Amino acid sequence: MKNSIRFFLPQASALILAVPLILLAQSSAPTELRIHADQVTAHVSPLLYGLMTEEINYSYDGGLYAELVRNRNFKEDAKQPVHWQMVAGHGAMGSISLDSGNPLNEANGVSLKLAAEKAAPNQPVGVANDGFWGIPVRPRTSYHASLWAKAAAGFTGPLNLAIVSNDGAVVHAKAQVPRLTTDWRKYEATLTTGDAPVSADNRLVISMTAPGVVWLNVVSLFPPTFDNRPNGNRQDIMKLLAAMKPAFLRFPGGNYLEGNTVATRFDWKKTIGDNSARPGHMDDAWRYWSSDGMGLLEFLEWCEDLHMEPVLGVYAGYSLRGGARFKPGPELEPYVQEALEEIEYVTGGPNTAWGARRAKDGHPAPFHLQYVEIGNEDNGDRETGSYEGRFAQFFDAIRAKFPELKIVATTSVTTRAADVIDEHYYRRSEDEMAFHANDYDTRRRLGGPLVFVGEWATRVGDPTPTLGAALGDAAWMIGMERNSDIVIMASYAPLFVNVNKGGMQWQTDLIGYDTLTSYGSPSYYAQTMFSNYHGDEVLATSAQSVPSREWQPPMPRGGRGPAPTTPQQTPMPLQAPLMFFDATRDGRSGVVYVKVVNRGSTAYPVHITVDGLAAIEPSGEAVVMKGDGPQDTNSITNPEKVKPVTIKADGLSKDFTHTFPPFSVTVLQMKGR
Ligand code: AHR
Repeated sequence: MKNSIRFFLPQASALILAVPLILLAQSSAPTELRIHADQVTAHVSPLLYGLMTEEINYSYDGGLYAELVRNRNFKEDAKQPVHWQMVAGHGAMGSISLDSGNPLNEANGVSLKLAAEKAAPNQPVGVANDGFWGIPVRPRTSYHASLWAKAAAGFTGPLNLAIVSNDGAVVHAKAQVPRLTTDWRKYEATLTTGDAPVSADNRLVISMTAPGVVWLNVVSLFPPTFDNRPNGNRQDIMKLLAAMKPAFLRFPGGNYLEGNTVATRFDWKKTIGDNSARPGHMDDAWRYWSSDGMGLLEFLEWCEDLHMEPVLGVYAGYSLRGGARFKPGPELEPYVQEALEEIEYVTGGPNTAWGARRAKDGHPAPFHLQYVEIGNEDNGDRETGSYEGRFAQFFDAIRAKFPELKIVATTSVTTRAADVIDEHYYRRSEDEMAFHANDYDTRRRLGGPLVFVGEWATRVGDPTPTLGAALGDAAWMIGMERNSDIVIMASYAPLFVNVNKGGMQWQTDLIGYDTLTSYGSPSYYAQTMFSNYHGDEVLATSAQSVPSREWQPPMPRGGRGPAPTTPQQTPMPLQAPLMFFDATRDGRSGVVYVKVVNRGSTAYPVHITVDGLAAIEPSGEAVVMKGDGPQDTNSITNPEKVKPVTIKADGLSKDFTHTFPPFSVTVLQMKGR
């Protein structure tokens, strides 16, 4: 089926009823795309494409945050030193246990007690950490180890550190802590591998070669990190992110910000300072332990490394699943103050209390911050309906102290004028996403807040999206880009998944990795294409004879509210377009970017005409991502099956026909004169 679609493009300042006119028509006429280069309808928001992140799917621990030791402060389980195993040479004797009688400090009160009853140089007694699905070993690589240790009287060392294959046969790298005392001290060492083959089946072993008792805490091992940042990030994943050229980072969640209780929220003050001062917490929203090694300052440094704008989510007195429900007023006030202090930690000068604390933590320069978001998905708070009041209290306090900040609401509010509203869309099929791709064309322009699409995805693919999902995503991005006078920021979610068994809590995630390698999904490449090629001006476009296919909308899904009381009827089938278009331009270079999505299974010729330019240079470039079918995908073993390629595009002019391959996303770059 072919549709006619006209995009009456919005003027940023006008009240627009921009109705995409979809006339269903059986037609074999060629698809027409008209680009009105003399009509700039909006400016592409410079912050349009960014990242959303939280601790889900082992995003930080076991993911981006490069720490290799799991359960480094022995708090992951109250009874057992999980992920730590006793190691004893033939004939040696010893034991390991959790011990709260020898606390390192207030934050880390439980230590690991390693007792060697019988040990000798050829009969070591020790403890091994199995890491996050193994410890990655690479040739000629230096690892930075650190640990806090103290010994019982009578044992003075040494402690041996080694990265050892799981079967114990190969010692890949080793170092020694020569001398211990009866006081807690921090020790550091470098372990360097030789010509070791790349492998993940390894453990970190800490051992004694004489009888004695030792307590350990905050045991850490880092491989080389991105830009060699201490306590930093995995290099391969940062490189994938850098290629996306993200403009902002929304953190720290998502549900992870809220937690299921006030105690398990992202309690930012417990995430700063030396790692030994961070207690960590149970990420009960996603059901695993968070070391909080990726703390507030690390999020900000991550922004700094990738030149991203931080979008700071602050806890708003509401936790998930029946947890905290603080009423507006005095009950909520401590959390408002906590947010003000957090903003001061981010932006304050050295003469402010929290700015000084940030300087002490290693970052004297304040960070640039424009957007603060109050809570997360507070439309879920239907039973108390308290967001209106909670938002007002945060809004007033933030506006008074930081008038330059833009304040983001997570659902609609009426008593205060939120600058931006964060909207989330998870669509369960490519057709559903495509059907809604033009929704923002009809969004009211005047009087309402700007939009941050802070979480969205076509949820097809497990663990990472398929090409079909990427085509739905690309259609949706075309809609956002065309309307970026109102949609000023957008971020796919979730960003990461550890694809090892047990690593995933949420299906369909942008970037996958295991212990050794990482890969981008087709949706990742679609994001990268959009983010790399958009210029700064949106040009008016209109399209006719656009192919479509029938789409059966799903039954309405229940949200967090009450179940429907009346039986629901299956909705009528609708038509979902198969092709999507937009055109943007770099105002300085004159390059026009024509984005075309073809979700269909056949190649479609499109007759493209350009108004308002004297000429188009005949040669340009096309960045094309395509595949054999919607089920095509990338994986840890086949990471680049679907990937964009850049090819020469000839025959361009003000009036030409270009054929777009099946299952494809194309960015056609044309130089106008
Ligand atoms: O992205 C996964 C979850 O989806 C987020 O934590 C939450 O905000 C949303 O419901």
